[in-house]
Amino acid sequence: MSSVDSQQRVLSGMRPTGKLHLGHYHGVLKNWVKLQHEYECFFFVADWHALTTQYDDTSGIQQSVWDMVIDWLAAGVNPGSSTMFIQSQVPEHAELHLLLSMITPLGWLERIPTYKDQQEKLREKDLATYGFLGYPLLQTADILMYRAGKVPVGADQVSHVEITREIARRFNHIYGREPGFEEQAEAAIVKMGKKNGKLYRNLKKRYQEEGNMEALETARALLKEQQNISLGDRERLYGYIEGGGKVILPEPQPLLTPESKMPGLDGQKMSKSYNNYIGLREEPDSVSQKIRTMQTDPQRVRRTDPGDPEKCPVWSMHKVYSDAETCEWVQQGCRSAGIGCLDCKKPLIDAVIEEQRPLHERARDYEKNPDVVRSILEEGREHARDAARDTLEEVRAAMGLSYR
Ligand code: TRP
Ligand code: SF4
Repeated sequence: MSSVDSQQRVLSGMRPTGKLHLGHYHGVLKNWVKLQHEYECFFFVADWHALTTQYDDTSGIQQSVWDMVIDWLAAGVNPGSSTMFIQSQVPEHAELHLLLSMITPLGWLERIPTYKDQQEKLREKDLATYGFLGYPLLQTADILMYRAGKVPVGADQVSHVEITREIARRFNHIYGREPGFEEQAEAAIVKMGKKNGKLYRNLKKRYQEEGNMEALETARALLKEQQNISLGDRERLYGYIEGGGKVILPEPQPLLTPESKMPGLDGQKMSKSYNNYIGLREEPDSVSQKIRTMQTDPQRVRRTDPGDPEKCPVWSMHKVYSDAETCEWVQQGCRSAGIGCLDCKKPLIDAVIEEQRPLHERARDYEKNPDVVRSILEEGREHARDAARDTLEEVRAAMGLSYR
């Protein structure tokens, strides 16, 4: 079994909602593209999660998955730098979900804010199902499966990472307490050698007595570079710093996705349900049409009326796309009625089309060669399954289900 560096692992998932738009691109996707060069990244399509609210009509899911994966690739998520897969193709997620369900108090799930919120929001659906209540636990399984230390999510999902931490802690508490844990941990310290052992004890003390987080980090780093201890000992010593048992499932941290500055065509947040979006792979003619018909400062009725950019969604978009000089030109021209709204929109249209050009090119290649996309997902699945099987083996053993 391979040793996992959780702090270097990133996992994130997206529900298949169909084609993505520029809001997704400027928020989530650009962030993923950056992270893939800094961490070992797993990105997956959460198709089972789609079932939790869409169980009554599953006809669109497959096409949505396909469109979304091509959008990821178009945006620059690179299968050479990250692992991309579809959740339902790694059925190990279901087993971990089941095992974790045994130790999950119902109250923890009922208390998660999204549970009631979503039920209220989607009133037309019957969401009083077992699957819907358990959906944050499924997400917990997704995360813990890869022992990911960092989980990029939007603010609305932070509570799900929080429950993941609680469940990991509970799991480690229940199943990480092997008989003779302390003796084994002490023996492992001796194996590190005199100098490192002393350093470890010191750092552990500083963390436990003073709550010194830096000491915790340093101790973890120290363990990472030890050559003389087994993987099992290393995990024991990770747990021993904090006083508990062995850390089988490490607690992840949310990595808050920077809020997309991309406004919708009407100035609200860009969203499919508001129908105020520009698709990530929108055709240039359509981009042009959508921006040309965008609402502007409502006070600016005639060309000769001066306007106020602060009251105009076109200006919000300039702030994302335009350089200082263009922004100055908009401010001046708008307030003095020196430019018309169509003049103002022109550089914006050009900038969006220019930004999308390489995305279209990449997407076209993949659409022409669907087998390439299939094999990317196939490879991703195999890689993900290897990692998932490693975790499950440990989980089963800790729970007394390894039958060897
Ligand atoms: N629940 C997330 C959403 O609706 C998607 C998701 C599923 C996810 N599993 C995950 C995100 C694991 C991060 C990590 O957006
Ligand atoms: Fe909006 Fe530009 Fe028209 Fe001013 S000139 S109202 S910023 S579109």
